[in-house]
Parts: sequence; C-alpha cells; structure tokens
Amino acid sequence: MSRGKRRFGKVLITGASSGIGRALALELAEPGALFALVARRKDRLDALKVELEGQGATALVFAADVRDSAAMGEVARQFIEAGDGPMLAVANSGISKGDALHTGDPQPMNEVFSVNVQGTINTLAPLIPHMMERREGHLAVVGSVAGFRGLPGKGAYCASKAAVKTLMDAYRPALRAYGIKVTTIAPGWVVSEMTANNSFRMPFLMDTDRAARIIADALARGKRECVFPWQMRLALPLIRRLPDWILSSRV
Ligand SMILES: NC(=O)c1ccc[n+]([C@@H]2O[C@H](COP(=O)([O-])OP(=O)(O)OC[C@H]3O[C@@H](n4cnc5c(N)ncnc54)[C@H](OP(=O)(O)O)[C@@H]3O)[C@@H](O)[C@H]2O)c1
Repeated sequence: MSRGKRRFGKVLITGASSGIGRALALELAEPGALFALVARRKDRLDALKVELEGQGATALVFAADVRDSAAMGEVARQFIEAGDGPMLAVANSGISKGDALHTGDPQPMNEVFSVNVQGTINTLAPLIPHMMERREGHLAVVGSVAGFRGLPGKGAYCASKAAVKTLMDAYRPALRAYGIKVTTIAPGWVVSEMTANNSFRMPFLMDTDRAARIIADALARGKRECVFPWQMRLALPLIRRLPDWILSSRV
C-alpha cells in the first residue's frame, strides 16, 4: 500500500487471478484486511492469498464463475459471514471478444455481456441488502473508456462497459441514503492478459501497478467515477463525438 488512510476492512475482488484485479488486491493489502478473491483459476488465487498473507492480510479464495448467480450468491454469503467491518466490493472480472459480425454468431457477444454485465450484477446484488442494513459499504465496477463510444469490431465489449457504467449511475443515488458509495472505474489501456495479444498501438498504455494505485486512490476518496489515464479523460469529449468515418470498418 503506497499511502495511508485506506481502511477497507473487507474487500471482495472478482477477476483477482490476473491483471488489474490481482494488482488492486496487492495495492489494498494491509494488516488486518480480509479479502475475498474470486476468479476461475484457483491456483492463481491461492498464490495471491499467500502474497496477501505476507502483508498481514487474510484471504478467502473462491474459484467461481461470475456468470453463475447461485455460486456468486454463496460467495456473498460467506464473505458477509466472515469478519466484520466496512465492506468494499469490486466487480472487475471481464472479457473482451471481437463481435465477428461476419459469422452471424451471437455467442461471442452474448458471452461478453454474460461476464461483463450479468457477472457484475451477480457479484454486487447479493451484497446490497447487507450493506443497506449496515448503512455502509462501497460498490465499484471496472468499466472502461471503451464504454463511452462504440468502437467497430468491439460493439459488445463497449456496450457492456456502457451498461455497467449506467448501472452504477442508477445505483449511486438509490443507495446514497443508505450510506453506500458507488464508484465506476474507467481505465484506458492497461498492461494485462487482456491486452497482451493486441497487435495494434495502444496509446497511453499504463503499467498494471500504476493503474492499481490510481484505482485504490479513487476508491479511498469515494469518487463516483475515475477515468484514467488523464490523457484519455481529457480526450473523452472527443472520444464521445468521434465521427463514424474516422473509425475503422472492422466487423
Ligand atoms: N487491460 C485493459 O486495457 C483494460 C482497459 C479497460 C478496462 N479493463 C477491464 O479491467 C478488468 C480486468 O481486466 P484485465 O485487463 O486485468 O484483464 P485480465 O488480466 O484478462 O483479467 C480478467 C480477469 O477476469 C477474470 N474472469 C474472466 N472471466 C471470468 C468468469 N467467467 N468468472 C470469473 N472471473 C472471470 C479472469 O480470471 P479467470 O480467467 O481466472 O476466471 C481474470 O482474473 C476487465 O473488466 C476489463 O474489461 C481492462
């Protein structure tokens, strides 16, 4: 942890087996913190648990698929029962697949929605009644700058990130009266397994640990939205208005 005053007693992170989720868990680690680490690759989560314990935290490992609402309900139940203290939940699991419109196959696009949107709902919804009862808590989602403008070839991914941003925009005022904070994180390009095979140029590509520090700071401040890097944030009005002719004709 790079700065003081970040006291999240209990932290649930989905997609903690790699990339941003893993780096965020390490960034938020501090003595006494309790983590719930969720992803499908259990070996990766077990290794992260050991690292977190080395920093004085404890961790529960859940090898679960965020698309499975029953499994995520059970994760929430066990997370609620374990320990006490203010609770932060970060719905970070995500996948990116091309639309492949030429194939006529809806499956890849449905899968993106299933993980990125339904997975977010499956992660956060079961925690909300408990947070409402406690009158505290913090819900966060890792969206994307891609959620601000549909991009050719990645329509489902962009739409899924717009969907989770919109979901958070609705949750925020609804849950404010219950003392629950709601944050949308919208990164630009970040080094991770997701971007490892991209062959195109990724402007302002950010190191994973640096991204995790920015996210942790935004969460500690209870920010409603965190768009980074700053160059992308500045460019957002332009990104939103990009004319169709400027974009590729990738399907
Ligand atoms: N990297 C970027 O440039 C970038 C930019 C903007 C937004 N984001 C967003 O950041 C988030 C994290 O991505 P990343 O860049 O860190 O990529 P990553 O390294 O590929 O991490 C994705 C994580 O999601 C988990 N996941 C995927 N499908 C899952 C499922 N069905 N159930 C449970 N967990 C699942 C993966 O774990 P398992 O495979 O072990 O299940 C993995 O831990 C994603 O939501 C992504 O859209 C990334």
